[in-house]
Parts: sequence; C-alpha cells; structure tokens
Amino acid sequence: MANIPSVDSVELERQAGIMQRIYELNTALSSPPLAFVDTYGCQQNEADSEKIRGMLHEMGYGFTDDEYEADLIVINTCAIREHAEMRILGNVGALVHTKRKNPEQKIVLCGCMVQQEHMIERIKKSFHQVDLVFGTHELYRFPELMDRMLSTHKGRIFEVRKIDGERVEGLPVLRQDSVKAWLSVMYGCNNFCSYCIVPYVRGRERSRAPEAIFDEARQLIDSGYKEITLLGQNVNSYGRDLGGDTDFSYLLSEINKIPGDFIIRFMTSHPKDATDRLFQTMADCEKVENHIHLPFQSGNDRLLKAMNRNYTKQSYLELVEKARSLMPDISITSDVIVGFPGETDEEFEDTLDLVRKVRFDMLFTFIYSPREGTPAAKMPDPFTREEKQRRFDRLIALHNEIVAEKQAAHVGKVARVLIDGESRKDSRGYNLTSRTSEGRLVLLKGSKELIGQFRNVLITDSTTWSLCGEIC
Ligand code: 5AD
Ligand code: SF4
Repeated sequence: MANIPSVDSVELERQAGIMQRIYELNTALSSPPLAFVDTYGCQQNEADSEKIRGMLHEMGYGFTDDEYEADLIVINTCAIREHAEMRILGNVGALVHTKRKNPEQKIVLCGCMVQQEHMIERIKKSFHQVDLVFGTHELYRFPELMDRMLSTHKGRIFEVRKIDGERVEGLPVLRQDSVKAWLSVMYGCNNFCSYCIVPYVRGRERSRAPEAIFDEARQLIDSGYKEITLLGQNVNSYGRDLGGDTDFSYLLSEINKIPGDFIIRFMTSHPKDATDRLFQTMADCEKVENHIHLPFQSGNDRLLKAMNRNYTKQSYLELVEKARSLMPDISITSDVIVGFPGETDEEFEDTLDLVRKVRFDMLFTFIYSPREGTPAAKMPDPFTREEKQRRFDRLIALHNEIVAEKQAAHVGKVARVLIDGESRKDSRGYNLTSRTSEGRLVLLKGSKELIGQFRNVLITDSTTWSLCGEIC
C-alpha cells in the first residue's frame, strides 16, 4: 500500500497560480462574487468543505447562505444512504429556480455521491442546471476546474477519476469555527464492510505524514483553537500505509505533548483495530478526552460476518470492558444498522442485547440502505420496510430509556466543560452550549465572552439529549 502517488509541489503551484488569476479578476469587480457552500454527510466532508472555502477565499470570493444571492453554489455531497442522496437531488432540482432568476449563477457538485457512475449519468440526463461535477480525487484541481467553467470551457464539465487516491498536502483551509477544528489524519478506507459505499468513493487508505499533522496541530493551538478532532474513516489503521511503526497511539501521545490548554478528540475507531495500546494511550494522555466512538453495527455474529466486520459480539463486549477497566467513566458511542439483508427477528434480538449490556452514551441508528455496487446490495432481503421500522423503533425506545437514566445520574455532579458556542433560543434562558470530556452537551447561561473557555460547571438538570448546568 505504500505506492500511493503524491501530488507534487509543481502541480500545487500551478493550481495556486490559477487561484491568483481568478483572484485578480474578482477583485477588479465592484464587489466580490459570493459563494454558497452546502455540505452533506460526515465530518470528513465538513473538513473538505473548509478546503473548498479556503480555495474560494484565495480566488477572491465572499460567502453567503442565501442561494438566490449566490453567484456560485458548491454542493459537497454524501452517498452513505439513499435518504442523503434523495435530499441532495431534491435540493439540486430546486436550484432551477435560483438559476432562472440569475442565469449567470454557476452550480457545482462534488464529493462522494458524484463519484458513482450511475449518479453521473443521472445528473447528465436530468439536472441540466449543474455546470461542473468533480469527484473526491479532484479536490486539489478545483481552481483549474473553476477556471475552465468560468472562462474557456463552454459545455458542462464532468471530472471524476476512478483511482485509489493521491496524497495531497498544503491546500488552503478556511475554518468555520474558532474554538473547534477538524484535522484529517488520513483519507479513504480499506475495510470494505459489505454494506458500505465509502471505500468505492473515497479510495484506499492514505495516512498523512506525522510531521504534517503535528505542524497543523501546532498552528491550530497557536491560533487559539481549544479542541482538535482527528478525523479518519478508521483512525486505528493510521500509519499502516506509511511503513515503519508509526500508529495512531503515537499520533495521540505526540499531539498530547504540544504545550497549551486544549483537548483532543478523534473519530472513527473500527473495533477490529482498537488495541489495548490505544486504550492505554487514551488513559495516559490528559488532553485526550474520555470518549470513543466505536461503531458495532450489529450484535449478531452471523450478520457481523456477512457485514465483513471481523469481530464478534463477544470480542466487542470484551473491548468495551477493557476500555472501561482503564477509564471507568469513558463515554462510548456507536453506530448500528437495523435490517441488514436477511436479518431475522432473533438476530436483531442480539443487537438489543448488546445495547442493554453496553449501555451506550449515544447511538447513531440507521435502517439499512442498499448501495449500488456493494456486495450487500446483491444479498436477498426478504424483510419488509415496515418490519425493519418496527425493529428500529424498539431499538430507539430501548436506547432512549438507557440514555435518560444515564443522563439523570449526572445531576448534582461537577464537570469540566469547554464552552463552544451559542445555543438556540431556549425558554429557560440557556444561551450557551458546552461539552464535557465525555462529549455530553451541557446548556449554560452566561456571557458570550465565555465561548472558547474551559470552566467547571455544576449539573443541575437533565433531559435525554442534554444536561443543564451552572458555572461554578
Ligand atoms: N445503510 C445504512 N447505514 C449505513 N452506514 C454505512 N453504510 C450504510 C448503509 N448502506 C452507517 C454505518 C456507518 C455509518 C457512518 O453509517 O453505521 O458506521
Ligand atoms: Fe464504511 Fe466500514 Fe470503511 Fe466505515 S470502516 S467507512 S463502515 S467500509
């Protein structure tokens, strides 16, 4: 796996030169053109959109959230489930109205959804308002593609390569938040879980060089960021493609050594690669928060095998036990799929049993969605949507009951939180949001000046989804 090509500095300088040219054209206008960047899906996509914004900023664009006002709309798409794709296509469909009002408006689609051939065909056939489509491997070529769209090229542009991926460093980033930052440590996925489209649309695992990651972390801390979330589809396999013995635990312990008052989070961890060394490192590093996102997907061994997950219900439970023996208060969150092809009622009971045993702090629950081109999409799936929905509802009810009990147990305790933003208007007067080390949301009252600060808070009340607190 070490033979993944790198995009060289000559190519990146070429792209930078194109950005400069577009910048000069845009700054000669009476006001800068406005871009609307809309993001669907996971944190990796959020991080990619920050690069898209970074490049647009270098090209002299301003930003808006109003589709009618925008000169350029960039939709960074997701392919993980059909529901996400339908929502995106619905919204792209609605852009015929904005374009009718402003025929000069340019519409760009990028990201995972458009990496699929059948989607490209669909866009070609039915979404004529779209001017440019580029795949996940073309992100660094965005300036060149913009240039073609804006000047030389007349027709619509489709640029999607089916490759394993390349290593790219040094793209500009315009971050959305000033307290919390995403830091991608690797791209792609090699696991090929049988239901999942990600390995097909994001290519093979590519780890960033540790020094590039440390430099970015230092820059973030120097510019005042308080929370860094290390991102990868499976951070636990970080470094395997680099050769040598650099692994994710090494990354955690080195970033933990950087001086400053900040915290480290990470996601996602595949249970098959979560090691004792990882848990020991988490326990030893004071800046690494007390939380792990450890998707289990199913509690049934036959299904886990059919999903190509490479662990069993028992080994998952042992992992949880190991983590809790080193970090008794660790919060464990997870993803679970209901209604994988052929899942029977009895097999689903194993999922409920696992949820009862682990008592997750948070669960992201999904009904299986067939993805064209994955092995699971070809498996017989005799159960109806209604049956799957009934199971799904039972799972949610069980989990909600567990979470409500767990949340209530925090009332009366004191926790250190990072105050990270303003909350939506609340009739009780809570105006700030914060998170505990375990990732629990705590609503607070106080001045906006507190955003970005760590404080101790007394937990005074709980609901299923949040705690309320008073700053001590
Ligand atoms: N159907 C339903 N859920 C899926 N996930 C991934 N692929 C599918 C699919 N085809 C879920 C998994 C994964 C999370 C990011 O999305 O639970 O962990
Ligand atoms: Fe998909 Fe599995 Fe890779 Fe996660 S580990 S992105 S579920 S293939």
